[in-house]
Amino acid sequence: MFNKRIKIKELLQTEAVGQDVTVMGWVRTFRNNQFIALNDGSTNNNLQIVVELGLLDDDTLKRISTGASLKVIGHVVASLGKGQKIEVKAKQIEILGDSDAEKYPLQPKKHSLEFLREIAHLRFRTNTFGAVFRVRHSLAFAIHQFFNQKGFVYLHTPIITASDAEGAGEMFKVTTLPIDGTAPKNEDGSINYKEDFFGKSTNLTVSGQLEGELGAMAFSEIYTFGPTFRAENSNTARHLAEFWMIEPEMAFCDIEDNMNLAEEFIKYLIQYAMDNNREDLEFLAQRLAEEEKQLPQDKRSEWGLIEKLEFVLNNAFERITYTQAITILLESNHYKKKKFQYDVQWGIDLQSEHERYLVEKHFKKPVIVTGYPAAIKAFYMRMNDDGKTVAAMDILAPGIGEIVGGSQREERLEKLEQRMKDMHIPTEEMSWYLDTRRFGTVPHAGFGLGFERMVQFVTGMTNIRDVIAFARTPKNCEF
Ligand code: 4AD
Ligand code: MG
Repeated sequence: MFNKRIKIKELLQTEAVGQDVTVMGWVRTFRNNQFIALNDGSTNNNLQIVVELGLLDDDTLKRISTGASLKVIGHVVASLGKGQKIEVKAKQIEILGDSDAEKYPLQPKKHSLEFLREIAHLRFRTNTFGAVFRVRHSLAFAIHQFFNQKGFVYLHTPIITASDAEGAGEMFKVTTLPIDGTAPKNEDGSINYKEDFFGKSTNLTVSGQLEGELGAMAFSEIYTFGPTFRAENSNTARHLAEFWMIEPEMAFCDIEDNMNLAEEFIKYLIQYAMDNNREDLEFLAQRLAEEEKQLPQDKRSEWGLIEKLEFVLNNAFERITYTQAITILLESNHYKKKKFQYDVQWGIDLQSEHERYLVEKHFKKPVIVTGYPAAIKAFYMRMNDDGKTVAAMDILAPGIGEIVGGSQREERLEKLEQRMKDMHIPTEEMSWYLDTRRFGTVPHAGFGLGFERMVQFVTGMTNIRDVIAFARTPKNCEF
């Protein structure tokens, strides 16, 4: 059996002085032909391997270079050096894979995040990305644990779909028809999708919500957690063309229940990472503090990463209506001094600068905004009694902006049909969706949490490209 090794994280925790162990990993550094810092990705803490004089011949010593992979059998001893309690005195070292130090792109020095994005296939081997992706993993695991404990059913909604859930029209087309102009045409010159693979026009999903609602109408409570796709041409630090979204959908639930669940959920995820990823979070806090030293004073955060997370855990999210948000913005000095790039008036879609002002300058904590104008929100949101706002809720987070979008859904058939007609959404094609309102409709609600934005919030990474393994953004699809 090859894999009789102990993982470095476990070894450092058990401090098994006196035992013989097998470890495997990649060389981070090799000092004085004597001290190897070995890392296997289980933790950022390297294991120090001590190579005594005479154990290896010169040729083998030369092959122990940064990036090379090793199998080490050795004896665990208490360490005399600073920074670690134990080390492994090597008895046998096998080089599993060489790494040409001259050509290996990751040198034992600080690389910029931009450079590391270009070598995203290797960046997992750095401390920053080791920490980020272990936290990402933990959060994904915690999501399932949270909903499982509450009895939600995990529903796998389709990735290829014929519907445009958000009505936003920012979709990637899925087709097997030729794109060189020879695709079969209708009489009016448009493409005849009856000849296409699915016999209709299809695209990658922008959201699993509509199918999620169908599930909620049977299981009461479901959630989805999967990739979603948006062909929006937004080259920002918080937009991806392919991102992961968590979408719970609950029957017998109104907008307030929905807000309560979303707040509890976000806090649960933060708490989970604090309990299970403390070391990685502390590393990331340090990294962020150093990154912020490069910024002018007024651009730096008031708190460190850990303090920010603790504050969010210990304080209720602020809850305001859209109308209140507009009033706050209009009364702000920021507005009076004309510092907003986009105009503020009732009816506008809040721009990122407005959202950030509300959470970062005014409330200094996460804010849930409800009651948006119907005209700027999706067709499925429940109309409020005023006839002009809908039961929508967005959660805005410091440093991120919108992290959650959700709503109570319009459960009244006539009102929903009317809204769809007004918004030119074909009701015949969506008959399956309307069936939920025809047969045993109930008040229900749900939301979508952008997973990468959540990972950004917890890790303090400022660019969304640094919290997903291989980012897909406009003009970029490497790896
Ligand atoms: O606000 P959105 O568009 O809401 C929906 O899709 C609803 N169907 C959700 C629901 O009610 N079930 O997207 C939800 C969240 C946003 O708040 C944001 O966090 C994230 O998804 N998001 C993106 N994340 C990264 N890149 C993008 N291009 C994103 N677009 C939305
Ligand atoms: Mg939204």
